[in-house]
Amino acid sequence: MKVLKVVSIIAICTIISYAKDIREPSVLFQQKCQMCHMDGVSRDAKIIKSMVSPSMNYTIKNLVWGMDSEHEGLSDVELKKISIAFMKDYLYFPDRKKTNCEDISFDKFGIMPSLKGFITEQEMDILLPWIYDKFKPIKQKDGSWMLKE
Ligand code: HEC
Repeated sequence: MKVLKVVSIIAICTIISYAKDIREPSVLFQQKCQMCHMDGVSRDAKIIKSMVSPSMNYTIKNLVWGMDSEHEGLSDVELKKISIAFMKDYLYFPDRKKTNCEDISFDKFGIMPSLKGFITEQEMDILLPWIYDKFKPIKQKDGSWMLKE
């Protein structure tokens, strides 16, 4: 009986921790993106050299800027929606033709691998709005976008 109790406690804890992980966007970010995309821009030359992709705030800045200039006059809500839809597609089907990154980014890092099989659509629905809110750049008076530090 005691063994059964221990086993069921372990099973319940596993389910709880799994459910917690899957609902926590910051954990998803650490597990699925951060190994490639650092969250902020670093000034440390050693870190810059070891980077395998643009930092997340820089990536989101270019993405939002790209979406904003492609579809003029979007409200904040529409801009968020369209940026998330872009990411949802890009994570499974990355393509240089779709990109908002500059050429220099591709010369340096190459194209992002497809994350099919690595992240589910359900996880994306939890993670992407959080990424957008956390890294969304700030619009300037001249229409350009500035990194959120
Ligand atoms: C194995 C490394 C790797 C992982 C993991 C990774 N990325 Fe990327 N990502 C890249 C590279 C390299 C680029 C730059 C080249 C490009 O745009 O394809 C990039 C570009 C992007 C872009 C820019 C798209 C554009 O406009 O061109 C977005 C958005 C993005 N990543 C989001 C994510 C998110 C969200 C995650 C986590 C769910 C993630 N990435 C995980 C390597 C990675």
